[in-house]
This record gives sequence, C-alpha cells and structure tokens, in this order.
Amino acid sequence: MTSWVGIFDSGVGGLAVWQEFVRLAPEAPTLYVADQAHVPYGPRPPEEIRRFAEAITRFLLDQGARLIVVASHTISAAALWPLREAFPRVPFVGIEPAVKPAAAQTRTGVIGVLATSGTLNGPLMARVVERFAQQVQVIRRVCSGWVEQVEAGLLEGEEAEAQIRHHLDPVVRSGADVLVLACTHYTFLAPLIRRVAGPGISLVDPAPAVARRAAEIWRAQIQEGKEAAPKGARGGLHAFFTTGDPQRFQEQLRQLIGRDGPVERLRWDTEGALREATG
Ligand code: DGL
Repeated sequence: MTSWVGIFDSGVGGLAVWQEFVRLAPEAPTLYVADQAHVPYGPRPPEEIRRFAEAITRFLLDQGARLIVVASHTISAAALWPLREAFPRVPFVGIEPAVKPAAAQTRTGVIGVLATSGTLNGPLMARVVERFAQQVQVIRRVCSGWVEQVEAGLLEGEEAEAQIRHHLDPVVRSGADVLVLACTHYTFLAPLIRRVAGPGISLVDPAPAVARRAAEIWRAQIQEGKEAAPKGARGGLHAFFTTGDPQRFQEQLRQLIGRDGPVERLRWDTEGALREATG
C-alpha cells in the first residue's frame, strides 16, 4: 500500500510546510487538505478546532496517509495532544512557536511572536515561553487580518503593507530584534515583513524544521519496511483538497507555490465528517 503523507491546515498556510517537505522528500506522495470553508481558525474555540482536526485526520487516514503533518500553529495548539490520544498509532508532526531559536538569537533581549489568538493564548505557547524564554522579554502580537490577507493573495502593494505595519510597528518599537512567524500563513508575507521591519531584525520561520522532521519520520517508515515504497495513485504524486472553492484554490497554488493541482472538492456532512464532493 502506498504510504501517503497527509498535511493539513485551515487554508493555504500549510503549503509553506508542504513546499519544504516536497523539496526534502521529492519522492514522498502527499495529500493536502485546506479547510477553507472554515478559515480562519485563529478566533475559533479550541473544541471546534479539535473537531475539525479529528475529522480531517480521519479523512486523510482513509485516503492512505500514514503520517500526519499538522501544518498549523493554531491547530497544533488546540488539537495536537488530543489527536495523539485519539489516534495513538499514528505519527503526528505538529508545530510549536519557534521561541527557543529566537531567544537564543536576540541581542536586545526582546523577541516578538506574531500569531493568531488561538496560538498565543493556548497552553503550548505558555509552555514554550516558560521553558525557553525565561531570560527574554516576549512581545505577543495577535496579527488579526493577516491570515485573510494571505488567503486573498495580498502579499505586496500599499494595502498589504499598511496591514503589516499596523501590527509590526508596535512590536518593532518595543525593541524586538527577532520576530517569530508563529502562523504558517505568515511565511508568505515574509518578504514584506522583512522589508517593513527593516535591517537588523531577523525572522524565524519554523516551516523548514517541521518539514525536516516530517521527512525524517517518513524515511524511517520506509526503511523499517512498514510501508511500501510509494508508487503514486490518483494519477500523480500529490493531491490537494479544499472544502472551499477548488478553482480559487488552484489559483492560490499557482500564486503561492507555482503548482498545478489536481484539486478536489470536499464537503462537511451533517455528522461533521469530511466527504469527497461529487459534481
Ligand atoms: N495557518 C494557521 C496557523 O499556523 C492557521 C491560521 C488560521 O486559520 O487562523 O496558525
């Protein structure tokens, strides 16, 4: 049986992780789910995010995924532990805010963590700050609107820049010299954030480290012979699914990662399960 790697997020943010993963493990077949019917997840209650995450995981496992990458800080914060409990035999790779490398890098002793409210107010964030950032000042900034901005493809231009400045300026003014991108959507804003923040400020993006971890686990599965080598089903090595508009998602794939689908449409049924939409 082909060993697919399932990767998911509320929308396009996880594509930043997908892109890195595919660069590191080009032979790995992937399934990507974007729950664009419910994006943004950030302001939603953790129980709701958990329900969505479990249903998406179930769908990915049904499709043949043997490793699940939770390519979202918000979902990892709300659902990673419950997912591991609900599916004890499934390896999960999640993301925590990259506070540790940021705390090691700062010279001013101030770091900024840019994220959704779900991530910043969750227990995972509290834990990483307690473990890794006792000696530094951590400025937490809920960057409301940025996820929607990336979903809308507003990565450059005056309007995009104004929205970035709105959240970034206060963080920079408070003396932060290292900024943690603690939402996968923000990776696509990195060039603009870097320009607005100016020289002397560095960004930490955990997407490459998460992808590296996922690639290691996938390789180990293959080597242990638990999984047969992949041989591409669905007519290709990669498949993308959205609960939103497939045509729009196709455009986003092109804009953000220079890829063509195939994109399939999923729908939420009345029991809260994910199904392939027909027609
Ligand atoms: N990209 C996600 C994250 O890393 C989810 C953002 C959202 O839907 O609010 O947090």
